[in-house]
Amino acid sequence: MNEKELLKALEEVKHPAKGDKSIVELGMVKDAAFGEGSVEVTLAFPGRRDPLAEYLIGSARAAIIRHSPAGTKVEVKTVVEEVKSASKKGQEFDTSRIEKVKHIIGIASGKGGVGKSTVAVNLAVALSRLGYAVGLADADIYGPSVPTMTGTEGFVPEAYKDEEDGGEWILPVEKYGVKWMSVGYFAARSQALIWRGPMASGAIKQMVLQVDWGELDYLLIDMPPGTGDIHLSLVQDTPMESAVIVTTPQNVALADVEKAVSMFRNENINKGILGIVENMAWFTPEEHPDERYYIFGRDGGAQMAERFGLDLLGRIPLVQGIRESGDDGEPTALGSRPDSMAFLDIARRITGMDE
Ligand SMILES: Nc1ncnc2c1ncn2[C@@H]1O[C@H](COP(=O)(O)OP(=O)(O)O)[C@@H](O)[C@H]1O
Ligand SMILES: [Mg+2]
Repeated sequence: MNEKELLKALEEVKHPAKGDKSIVELGMVKDAAFGEGSVEVTLAFPGRRDPLAEYLIGSARAAIIRHSPAGTKVEVKTVVEEVKSASKKGQEFDTSRIEKVKHIIGIASGKGGVGKSTVAVNLAVALSRLGYAVGLADADIYGPSVPTMTGTEGFVPEAYKDEEDGGEWILPVEKYGVKWMSVGYFAARSQALIWRGPMASGAIKQMVLQVDWGELDYLLIDMPPGTGDIHLSLVQDTPMESAVIVTTPQNVALADVEKAVSMFRNENINKGILGIVENMAWFTPEEHPDERYYIFGRDGGAQMAERFGLDLLGRIPLVQGIRESGDDGEPTALGSRPDSMAFLDIARRITGMDE
């Protein structure tokens, strides 16, 4: 790859908050070095806190990889052209806005595919139905599903600069009475996001901390599946109060739940776990609403809850309607079917309203 090809690739990277101008046009590409099978680019940002910095770095990296021979090593570095305030160092976030959120709850699971996002989205809608001001941050940057599940795909959140606090803030998308934020709003649908450790961590935290949520009773965080370093840094660097663990009832899920439980109970983390949500607790066919088939085993969730000394917050059946409403962007919890009510019951339990 030569310089011309590089610039052509980077022209595909548009800054969503700058009228979709490319980072080349905006003069953000400062430097490039070409080695044997490697490319190194330096992007310049005007301040430390461009809310889209991590997104742009990830997109630049992806664009270069798309235009390079397979196996090319790509490095994207950044420089800050003008530091606003000398006292603010590094990638620190201003937490003044998030302080207006009363309760921050992480929705976690030891592994993917157990319905963590389904539970997060429906709980957010259910809490809002109960009259609370609610937001949901989709921190699962590897598989953001909130835009699809809420029918907000293609929405572009606005970003603005606050002259008073000097911060740049992203405004959440509002629908169904809930404020939503997802890295999915910033990425083209077809474009796979390629993140490396520190970058991933930064992007996740931006989805929580650099959003102007306004006053909220509950902010739910759809955490990435797993219990690795980025989870630790998410939990440590955001004022997350507690967690809900989502699992399926199988025995094999036990080890994953155990990992998640020990992450939150780690002495350096030490966050309360509100309880376990057992998803896909049984299967009910659409045409036989009174039947229950315990295809993943019976009472697995209750057994896990007991084993770890946790509450079982609720059980959600495996029903076709939940999958369909997720795909259609109309969360089940908006309706009045038994499975909709199951989410409302969990929401009530979380807010302590059922006592
Ligand atoms: N209770 C359920 N009944 C039917 N389908 C479900 C249920 N929970 C999740 N799904 C479906 O399973 C898939 C994975 O769920 P998702 O919430 O994306 O999992 P995760 O966020 O843990 O990866 C989605 O297609 C979703 O619609
Ligand atoms: Mg998910």
